[in-house]
Amino acid sequence: LETVHILDEYRHAIANELARITGLDSQFCFNLVENKFPKDASTGDFSIAVPRMKLPGVPAEIAKDLESKFTVNSTFASVKAAGVFLKFYVSSNYFRDRLLPRVLSQGEKYGHNSVGFGKVSIVEFSSPNIAKPFHVGHLRSTIVGNFIDNIQQANGWTTVTINYLGDWGKQYGLLAVGFNKYGDEAKLAADPIRHLFEVYVKINADATADATVHDEARAYFSKMEDGDKAALGLWRKFVDLSIVKYREIYGRVNVGFDIYSGESQYSATSPATKLVGAKMRELGLLKEDQGAQVIDLNEHKLGVAIIEKRDGGLMYLSRDVAAAIARQKEFKFDNMIYVVGSQQDFHFKQLFKILEMMGVPWAEKCQHVNFGMIKSKDGNMSTRKGTVVFLEDILDNVQESMLDVMKRNEAKYAQIQNPTHVADVIGITAVMVQDMSARRNKDYEFNWDRMLAFEGDTGPYLQYAHTRLCSIERKADFEVPATVDVSQLTEPVALTLLDVIAMYPDIVREVGSSLEPCTIVSYAFRLSHAVSNCIEALYVMNQPQEIASARLALYKAARITLGNALRSLGVIPLERM
Ligand code: ARG
Repeated sequence: LETVHILDEYRHAIANELARITGLDSQFCFNLVENKFPKDASTGDFSIAVPRMKLPGVPAEIAKDLESKFTVNSTFASVKAAGVFLKFYVSSNYFRDRLLPRVLSQGEKYGHNSVGFGKVSIVEFSSPNIAKPFHVGHLRSTIVGNFIDNIQQANGWTTVTINYLGDWGKQYGLLAVGFNKYGDEAKLAADPIRHLFEVYVKINADATADATVHDEARAYFSKMEDGDKAALGLWRKFVDLSIVKYREIYGRVNVGFDIYSGESQYSATSPATKLVGAKMRELGLLKEDQGAQVIDLNEHKLGVAIIEKRDGGLMYLSRDVAAAIARQKEFKFDNMIYVVGSQQDFHFKQLFKILEMMGVPWAEKCQHVNFGMIKSKDGNMSTRKGTVVFLEDILDNVQESMLDVMKRNEAKYAQIQNPTHVADVIGITAVMVQDMSARRNKDYEFNWDRMLAFEGDTGPYLQYAHTRLCSIERKADFEVPATVDVSQLTEPVALTLLDVIAMYPDIVREVGSSLEPCTIVSYAFRLSHAVSNCIEALYVMNQPQEIASARLALYKAARITLGNALRSLGVIPLERM
């Protein structure tokens, strides 16, 4: 796959010329050029802070001197000294000629690169808890995690996606006790997630009133830990049925997992955890503290981590240590990403520190990709105490609201073939785009109206831009010819669109390391705005053939690029809406 990073080409062109003039190392100069596209590609510029070149003399004078010596070439139209800065203005014709054929031939691969070639990345995300509602934190993890999986693949990584279910611990003993009392097999089969939650709520209420219920739960869970067939059978049924239902719901948001795993794999008696326990003991990491086995992390300001409780039970943290070690053994990963909300920052700091103390050489390959909370004014999104919302409810809600919005345009609505499906996809796009519009670690407010609007920077707007491009291709009565004459594209709006299309590979690569979906989202908006400016001004129909071909090629390249950006976000690009 031939990937050309326009950004690198510019940086190299600047660096080589500066190295030639000054005798400095060209790699050193390369690193001085900002690794970022100018905000506005058409008038933008790259700049260098001259003092950073560490040349003897007065920086402002050096800047002037370099300006006069810099040879303007096909890459740069001009160079200007501005105080202690040198500014480089790009000449856009440089890459335009080569761009369209590349995008059209690469199609869905346009923008991809092979940075991660031959390397394995584990992406663990979503990870809801059985019998408890799938809360908005899990929704964010699902959206962001799926995005990370896509973007890693676009950067050439081989990924393994894991859904690490919360399915172990005393609360599952409680659930079983509750099921024996309140459970209904038919309801369980029909909608396991909701029914288990119902049961869970009831038995929790019982337990609050009567502490002996807790003892029963503890006894049940210890039978599970001991491998009791009957106890495990019931629990297994909960898990299996829940997974069937999860798969269905994830399918609706276009998300799939390579592996459904869970905390239960790392029970106190599992070989994986026993091995880890032995290793910790051997290294002298464990200390006794009031009957429990702990690791003292105070020296790292991470408190005291309980590994094994007094009754021999393990902790969430202990299971994570065992899971990490088992995954390294199985997949030899080069990178493992946990997509979990910021509330668990401390947990992951403890986890990574313990791995480091255990001397595993891959500890630094583990990364916690965190995110902020979703807030809501109306309480609709809350799950604790307030209205319980399951992922399915959120999706149904969004679909319904989207249908309402669509129905307002009666003429258009009548033309849509499968309105409920379209509403589902646009609604989900709305949620995803809203979720990924700001930097991950920011909290944001779930705003139904803003999110579902067709105007402004929303998911529906991006889908709309994509469908407009598809419609232009459908309506054109000819195919894009094998060679197009790009010089037919002379209008500033067309040149800007070309420039924005050209940036995509660099954006993908940048995001491959920042793992910030908002960079792709803002790129998609920038692209869509450029598309919209073009569509309003440059027609394909009734134009001289040469011009029509060049414009159609441009629109097709834009459609491919926007489609790729949307797919990397996990969004299915619509052809009609
Ligand atoms: N099930 C957990 C929860 O809902 C999230 C699991 C995160 N992953 C992990 N490896 N600890 O809070």
